[in-house]
Amino acid sequence: MDGEVQPKASRADTTVDRRIGRILISRDEIAARVAELGEAIGRDYAGRTPVLVGVLKGAVVFTADLLRAIPVPAAMDFMAVSSYGSGTRSSGVVRLTADLSLSIEGRDVIIVEDVIDSGRTISYLRRNLATRHPRSLALCGLLDKVSRREVEVDVDYVGFVIPDEFVVGYGLDYDGRHRELPDLAVLEPVTPS
Ligand code: PRP
Repeated sequence: MDGEVQPKASRADTTVDRRIGRILISRDEIAARVAELGEAIGRDYAGRTPVLVGVLKGAVVFTADLLRAIPVPAAMDFMAVSSYGSGTRSSGVVRLTADLSLSIEGRDVIIVEDVIDSGRTISYLRRNLATRHPRSLALCGLLDKVSRREVEVDVDYVGFVIPDEFVVGYGLDYDGRHRELPDLAVLEPVTPS
């Protein structure tokens, strides 16, 4: 690649054929865990109206489900970021590509991520949002690839700790595809016969 800058979506080599493999987490397991997370957030934010900040695009499906699982009034907004790296590794350079439409000053904010990998995206977002003086700032991640962590981050609500596998479905993509799948499945390389 000779230092060529590429979007992080290239983490899984696009020159290799891949197919949907085994289901890692089923739709029923996801729904049960999202319900538990919603209850926990509802207890912690009783009497308040948190703002869920979903990180586009992967977290859209999770954010929408989580919003409905939280038994207190909650607002919802979105941000988009891009991170760039060479080849299969992120360089850690994160850039804001779409900002919130709401002010979060004085609000109780919960950042909602689909997957926390190196931790760089969430670390950037935490720093960025903290400068806007929210009343509180928490993080909820559906999937946590703990073994991939490069930057220490405190995750307040975790759906599932998963191994370092390329996962698609429930909002997560491979090269823009497979976000619509209701289960979380492993993307596997196709071995030539
Ligand atoms: C994924 C995910 C997080 C980020 C986590 O986004 O949604 O935002 O990567 O990785 P990190 O912890 O190493 O920073 P992606 O770039 O795949 O974009 P998408 O959500 O639009 O699919």
